[in-house]
Amino acid sequence: MGRPKVVLGVSGGIAAYKACELLRRLTESGHDVRVVPTASALRFVGEPTWSALSGNPVSPQVWDEVHEVPHVRIGQAADLVVVAPATADTLARAAHGLADDLLTNTLLTARCPVVFAPAMHTEMWENPATRENVATLRRRGAVVIEPAVGRLTGVDTGQGRLPDPAEIFEVCRRVLARGAEGVAADLAGRHVVVSAGGTREPLDPVRFLGNRSSGKQGYALARSAVARGARVTLVAANTDLADPAGADVVRVGTAVQLREAVLKAASDADAVVMAAAVADFRPATYASGKIKKREGQEPAPVELVRNPDVLAELAAGRPHAGQVVVGFAAETDDVLANGRAKLARKGCDLLVVNEVGERRTFGSEENEAVVLAADGTETPVPYGPKEALADVVWDLVARRW
Ligand code: CTP
Repeated sequence: MGRPKVVLGVSGGIAAYKACELLRRLTESGHDVRVVPTASALRFVGEPTWSALSGNPVSPQVWDEVHEVPHVRIGQAADLVVVAPATADTLARAAHGLADDLLTNTLLTARCPVVFAPAMHTEMWENPATRENVATLRRRGAVVIEPAVGRLTGVDTGQGRLPDPAEIFEVCRRVLARGAEGVAADLAGRHVVVSAGGTREPLDPVRFLGNRSSGKQGYALARSAVARGARVTLVAANTDLADPAGADVVRVGTAVQLREAVLKAASDADAVVMAAAVADFRPATYASGKIKKREGQEPAPVELVRNPDVLAELAAGRPHAGQVVVGFAAETDDVLANGRAKLARKGCDLLVVNEVGERRTFGSEENEAVVLAADGTETPVPYGPKEALADVVWDLVARRW
């Protein structure tokens, strides 16, 4: 087997320059990339850039190298087609099956997974015509990544930005890996909520009680769900990781804020995964000024009160019977027995139990776990990347739908 073949479609938006970075990441990680720009994309970034960076010939139209039948061959041979940026016009032409240039021909002949990373002004993204085109493409199995919110061309801000190329690359990597196994965007049409990171409970304006959760497992869950076609809300507590492409990231600080954000997002969700390390306690009082040491005086003890248990509340108050609720637990001893008891206590459907010990879980790229289910089944997940565990969790969630 040769290098995986990727078609990078580029359509005519100012974000075309960011596709150079995506191309770079794809080629450097061993993919054979064929860039297929539209004619208007070439007004933003020229043909020499695409051919130099890809090492392959580049043309927007079907009339070059006709003897090689490029309008059919490029799509047929691809393992992945990613269109970044995808303009409103390109989405419309793809949704309607038009074939008036090489990119649209390629989209019609491709039998592999297709990822669209739209970028446009908010008005165009929100226009009912675009909404319907996006829904059509998703229904047909394409992964259409939600644009990011932020600064657009000119002075505008809103939803419509092309996500960070490094994060689009992460989506492509996952879609390619799953495509090679013949699995599609199996979470399409689902809304999932993931909490990640660790809450911080403030004592005063400069101090807090916190924990060492990095958020990496929650982010891996969010990235995996985006690549599998879900709409993702990521409630992130005090993380410093890049926003996953396509996820709606809601930032929170404390357990109380996390509870509010998770419950709000969960109201129409098909699944909620509580990967965040939520503080069980918070200081009973918050000093509005910095707490000072006083000469000759012992420090006052810190009084704590219980935080709400978000996972137990979610499990007890599901908005619809089909919502799947997943918790995480870290155990050192009697892992399975403690995990089983916790699963029953919390009332969730699945509990991912990490054995914490010599191998660190916090901050590391790897994890090892057993997923316990309310129906009594156990799924061991061997030591490996956090994204592998993420995929097992979504497999088990999807089975419950
Ligand atoms: N959780 C929560 N709200 C809290 C505390 C925890 O929703 N106030 C969630 C976490 O997101 C996680 C699971 O519950 O999914 C962890 O449960 P917890 O009882 O805190 O387990 P441990 O962290 O393992 O701690 P302990 O063994 O002390 O119970």
